[in-house]
Amino acid sequence: MELVFASNNQHKVDEVQAMIGTNITLKSLNDIGCLDEIPETGDTFAQNAGQKSRYVYSQFHMDCFADDSGLEIDALSGDPGVNSAHYSGSRDFEDNMSLVLERLAGKTDRRARFKTVISLIKGGKEHLFEGSIEGFISQQRSGSKGFGYDPIFVPEGYDISFSEMSADEKNRISHRAKAMEKLIRFLNSEYS
Ligand code: IMP
Repeated sequence: MELVFASNNQHKVDEVQAMIGTNITLKSLNDIGCLDEIPETGDTFAQNAGQKSRYVYSQFHMDCFADDSGLEIDALSGDPGVNSAHYSGSRDFEDNMSLVLERLAGKTDRRARFKTVISLIKGGKEHLFEGSIEGFISQQRSGSKGFGYDPIFVPEGYDISFSEMSADEKNRISHRAKAMEKLIRFLNSEYS
């Protein structure tokens, strides 16, 4: 059985393929010859993930899933949210973190969470899977691993940032891992 993961990040595709096992063969956007810039204009992670999965399903008529993630900060009314990748106007991780720290300067409420939503279109029907991890935004960057906002996000119950954790440790607790686990449980029951 073939299933499209609407991503061009081969690292992500390989990682999920390893979790899924051999019943399902994952195809990336590249694998199916989809070179289009798929629109992501929603106000929520679910809308964006759904836009991507429906686009592929309608153009390529293959079952497909897509994910969308980001950081929500309570004191910034949920920002950067769906704008996480380009919050400062650029995709530069450093600029985006600087803007968050600047906007939180002097604020005591630093609660935040990462969220992932996965939209699966199977036989034309949409299924959504969510994962999130609560935490807070530190006063300054620490650590050198990971990407995005990892150096300033400290998960609840920890005193180190995502950037100070090993990839294995982060992958055990992350928003993306939790959403993927739900997707994989569903796929394994549907395609077994
Ligand atoms: P995507 O939807 O997975 O591409 O994530 C969108 C943006 O959210 C990324 O460009 C990052 O800025 C941020 N983000 C999502 N997941 C993480 C994470 O695990 N660590 C840090 N930043 C993340």
